[in-house]
Amino acid sequence: MNNFIEIHKSKLDHLIERFDSSFYCYDLDALGEHLKFLQDSVPEGVKLWYATKANPLSSVLKEFRRNSFGIDVSAQGEMNHALNAGFEPQNMLSTGPSKSKKYLQSLVDNKIQTVVLESVNQANWLNEIALTQNKKVDVLLRVQLPWSEGKSVLGGDEISAFGIEPNSWINSNIKELQNLNVIGFHCFQWGNILDANRLGLIWDKIASSLTQLSNDLNIDMKVLDLGGGLGLDYESHQTPLDFTEVSGQLKKVKEKYSIPEIWMELGRYAVGNFGVYCTQVIDRKNVRGKELLITDGGINHLVRPAITDQSFPCQVLKATTNEVNSFQVHGPLCTALDKLGSFELPSNTSPGDWLVFSKTMAYGFTESMPFFLCHNLPAETIIKDGQLEVLRGIETAASWLV
Ligand SMILES: Cc1ncc(COP(=O)(O)O)c(C=O)c1O
Repeated sequence: MNNFIEIHKSKLDHLIERFDSSFYCYDLDALGEHLKFLQDSVPEGVKLWYATKANPLSSVLKEFRRNSFGIDVSAQGEMNHALNAGFEPQNMLSTGPSKSKKYLQSLVDNKIQTVVLESVNQANWLNEIALTQNKKVDVLLRVQLPWSEGKSVLGGDEISAFGIEPNSWINSNIKELQNLNVIGFHCFQWGNILDANRLGLIWDKIASSLTQLSNDLNIDMKVLDLGGGLGLDYESHQTPLDFTEVSGQLKKVKEKYSIPEIWMELGRYAVGNFGVYCTQVIDRKNVRGKELLITDGGINHLVRPAITDQSFPCQVLKATTNEVNSFQVHGPLCTALDKLGSFELPSNTSPGDWLVFSKTMAYGFTESMPFFLCHNLPAETIIKDGQLEVLRGIETAASWLV
């Protein structure tokens, strides 16, 4: 049985009784221990940041702050929220392909330490803003490299919005922008990778290409930011990524290319394992030979299966038989996209049973499409110091519909 359910079963029972509607529950105690382990395991000269987008709940951000992570924000809302959660601007990093002049102004006004530049326009606009305030802003140049293998949510080998080619930086006026202090480079195109050797190969190619770029530009690479990309074993046949091996790969790349500092902005691997999403079975039927379960919440609360074609592990909270059957699980939306996956579940699973989807703390609620069809929003709850706390209860569509 999944560890989260085993440890927190009585708390999940309590939440079910209290809400009778779908909810998330996150174990911040386990998260805190994991973050400490990550910090203790990284080689010297590797700085860890948290990518807010994975789960922006303020109590989550505070857990990262307590564990000495910096924070990566990719939008004005994330920046405001991270500042409100107590992060110091000197521990903040701004990434993201869509930075308007207004947003860049706000980054400078709020003294955000490092801005990752994703286009030549961003470089020029930021320089103008810094000039008017007589400041010099630390920046990383984001680079998009060609690859020869496959797709990824971060672009992979496709042309994406993230950064520009090395030659575009070489042919730009970046060296003339006196109010920018280029401290290094950023490159991140591959997500959810479970093989430390593969990560090592990707990082080696990045380090080699960016060492070349730093020579071509005659800019010292003090920092190489490799983004995230560490994967989770969502499928039962997969083996979890071993962070000690990841650390070994980071150390190898750092030493081989003599890079003073490597930065990682972790999302999925930092938080993903520590939360569950719970939803009730509303109906069961057989359609053209397949057993279907229809649930209270679906991709309105947890969209990732629809956009990646990979489901989260699923269990029935209170299984009463060991006999299993194959089920397709569908949410409540009027689109065939609303499918949470196909699972082996107890054969007597029925309306009224609760399904628990684990590893859903990263790219869960805030990545989803909660407004379609005006269902309830899921509650978000935490376990901290062993105590259950409801951060936001169930909200009905009446709270946002106009
Ligand atoms: C710029 C940037 N950094 C870090 C991350 C986090 O990646 P991961 O969840 O793979 O750790 C993302 C995810 O989209 C990102 O866009």
